[in-house]
Amino acid sequence: MKIAVAAEADDTRVAATPDVVKRYVNAGAEVVIETGAGATARVTDQAFQDAGATIAATGADAVSGADIVLTVRRPTPILLGAMKRGAMVIGALDPYGDADGLKAMADAGVAAVAMELMPRITRAQSMDILSSQANLAGYQAVIEAASVFDRAFPMMMTAAGTVPAAKVFVMGAGVAGLQAIATARRLGAAVSATDVRPAAKEQVASLGAKFVAVENDEFKQAETAGGYAKEMSDDYKRQQAELVASHIAKQDIVITTALIPGRPAPKLISAAMVASMQPGSVIVDLAVERGGNVEGAVAGEVVTVGPTTIVGHLNVPGRIPTTASLLYAKNLFTFVDTVLVDKETKSFAPKWSDELLTATLLTKDGALVHERFGGAAPQSAA
Ligand code: NAI
Repeated sequence: MKIAVAAEADDTRVAATPDVVKRYVNAGAEVVIETGAGATARVTDQAFQDAGATIAATGADAVSGADIVLTVRRPTPILLGAMKRGAMVIGALDPYGDADGLKAMADAGVAAVAMELMPRITRAQSMDILSSQANLAGYQAVIEAASVFDRAFPMMMTAAGTVPAAKVFVMGAGVAGLQAIATARRLGAAVSATDVRPAAKEQVASLGAKFVAVENDEFKQAETAGGYAKEMSDDYKRQQAELVASHIAKQDIVITTALIPGRPAPKLISAAMVASMQPGSVIVDLAVERGGNVEGAVAGEVVTVGPTTIVGHLNVPGRIPTTASLLYAKNLFTFVDTVLVDKETKSFAPKWSDELLTATLLTKDGALVHERFGGAAPQSAA
C-alpha cells in the first residue's frame, strides 16, 4: 500500500504531518512525499523522513504508482495524469459547480473522495474537515480583525483612564461563528451573534454572547434534518435586515460566516449598513469564497469602504497553516484508517459500501458516480 502527498500548487497547508506519517507506516503503508510539500506549514523533508516517509523529487514521482493520494486541493492535471488508474484521491475536492473538473478526475480513472461531503454523524466527527477548518477560520477571523482594528478589545481600567470593550457581532453561529464568538470573548470583547437556526440560540448564550434574531415561526423551522440552515423567505430576510441594520451601526467589528450548503452565501450586510458604521470599524467576511455576506467585500482583498475596513481573505484556514494541517491531516488519516485499510493484511482494501465512502465518492472506474453531481447510483460501489 503506497500513500503519496504532493506539494500543493495553491495552498499553504499540507495533507500529512510527521505524526500521521508514523501512523500510516504503522498501518502498513509506504509513504512518499514530494520535496518541500510541508515547507509552508513548517514541516521539513527531514521531519517527514524521520517519521518514516521517503522524499520524491517531483509531485509526479511521488504519486506515481500510489494507491492513495492525499491532497488539500483538487490535484492539477499534471498530477492527475501521473496517477495510476484506480488510485484513490482524497481531499477537499470542491465538487460544486465544476462539471469539467469532475470529468477530468473521472477521465483520469481515479476514485475521487471529496472530504467535504462527509456525513455529519457521530462516527465521522473526527474525519470532518469542514468542522476542523471552519473552527480555525473562526478563530483566525478574530485575529485578523484585531490586527486591523486600531483600538483594544478588552475593557481596561487604568490609572490613565478607562478603555471601553470592543463590540463584536458575529453573523452565522455555526462551527466558525461559535469559535469566533469564543475567541472574541477570550480577548475581552462584548459579543453578540445571530443565526437563523433556533439551535444556535442556546449555543451562543452558553458562550456568553447575546443572541440577536427575528424569532418568528419561520425561524423555528429553519434547520434542516442535517443541522444546516435553509434559504430564508424574502420576508424573513427583510425583517432580519431591519433588525441587523440598527445593531450593526453600533458595532466595532462584524464577523460574517453565514452559509447555506450548495447555494451562494446569503447577503446580510448592505452597502448602507457598511456606511452606517463608526469610523475605524472592521468587517471580516468569511463567506467571501462563496459570494460573500457583505456588499462591497472583495475576494482576496482588504478594502476600505467609507468608515469601514472589509477583510475578504480567501482560504482563511490557510493563514494558520501549521495548525490547520495538523487537524486536516488527522481527519484524513482517520478516514483512511477506518474505511480503506484492512487491519489484518495491512493492505489497501476500500470498504466500498461503507456509508462514509458512498457519501463522499465522486468518481470511480472512469465514471462520475455521485448522484448529487449528476452521476448514476454508484453500482460499482455496491
Ligand atoms: P455552515 O458553514 O453551512 O453555515 C454557517 C452558519 O450560517 C450556520 O450556523 C447557518 O445556520 C448560518 N446561516 C445561514 N444563513 C444565515 C442567515 N441568513 N443569517 C444568519 N445566519 C445564517 O454551517 P456549519 O458551521 O458547517 O454547521 C452547521 C450546523 O451543523 C451547526 O449546528 C453545527 O453545530 C452542526 N455540526 C454538526 C456536526 C456533527 O457531527 N454532528 C459537525 C459539524 C457541525
